[in-house]
Amino acid sequence: MPSVAGVLGTDVSLLQSGMGGVAGSELACAVSDAGAAGCAGGYKLAGGALSAMLARLTSGTDRPVGVNLIPEVVGPDELDRQVAQVLDETPDRVHLSFFGMPHDAVFDRVTAAGRHLVVQVGTVEDGVHAAARGAVVVAQGIEAGGHLLGTSRRDDLMGALRARVPDACLVASGGIGSPGEAARALAAGADGVLLGTAFVVAHESRAHARFKSAVTDADETDTVITDVYEIGWPGRRHRVLATAVTADPGQPAKFIGKTLVEGKPYLVPRFSAAVPTEATSGRIEEMALYCGRSCGEISEEVSAADVVAAFARVLAGAEVVNTEEKAEHHVG
Ligand SMILES: Cc1cc2nc3c(=O)[nH]c(=O)nc-3n(C[C@H](O)[C@H](O)[C@H](O)COP(=O)(O)O)c2cc1C
Repeated sequence: MPSVAGVLGTDVSLLQSGMGGVAGSELACAVSDAGAAGCAGGYKLAGGALSAMLARLTSGTDRPVGVNLIPEVVGPDELDRQVAQVLDETPDRVHLSFFGMPHDAVFDRVTAAGRHLVVQVGTVEDGVHAAARGAVVVAQGIEAGGHLLGTSRRDDLMGALRARVPDACLVASGGIGSPGEAARALAAGADGVLLGTAFVVAHESRAHARFKSAVTDADETDTVITDVYEIGWPGRRHRVLATAVTADPGQPAKFIGKTLVEGKPYLVPRFSAAVPTEATSGRIEEMALYCGRSCGEISEEVSAADVVAAFARVLAGAEVVNTEEKAEHHVG
């Protein structure tokens, strides 16, 4: 079984999460240029705004890089349009990354186009299904920052998934803020790791400066799982830094700020699912500050290349170690 790096064509089996609003083309390109798999957040981008982002992404790096889409946020018809646009407007080295399962027709369309798929899941069943359809599977544990796809701890999910699909390409996600934690994820059966929060604080991330400093100041006891930031993405629990809004969700849903998305202005209501970016102003501390338990190990803002270099030492041997462990397991 090829390594994550082998499949995606990167040097390191490390994926950066395509975080909507936070992960623009600057972060994705910097991560890919450093030898890992960068990924730009597609979120609700469509039409000319999506084209502009894709153009920046593909002109910003000549390395493998991804575009992240979220099936449950946009729905099947809009997802089809987004997928078609990405396939039409990007070269083959651009892979598609999905948060949650797309329909089978999407898997077929992407693989028929010769592109790699990365699918983040929260259950063994979804992981088995995505692996059978050729995806690199990201197993997300409840330690993760952002929206949560399941209810299992990261290493438990990985262990159960690895037992079902021993030869699949599996990536661990959730609560990984240090090379030591990445090593634990590899020991649990992962071929590589995906980081979200660790890249929120990268210089190239578009997260608002006060969001970045809240993450570097926090430890894991400052995060909570809630469902209050539901405007724009209802019905899914998420892990965020505790705020005055998570403490008192009974407040009125009035506007607390404004922002720009690809140059277009929007008002930000209290309870909005949108993260505060460098283009956001207002009551930043009350907005959705998605953050994993990994924040306990993240204490400074660094460049994306520094993050990749720090993890590369641990991840370089991932394939060798896991192949040996799997061989022993099979023999035993
Ligand atoms: C600020 C933030 C925004 C996120 N947005 C997305 C997103 O748009 N798409 C996606 O696939 N995952 C998103 N995630 C979730 C990550 O893919 C991943 O599950 C999580 O970051 C892993 O845990 P960690 O933050 O402890 O590394 C987001 C995470 C964070 C912290």
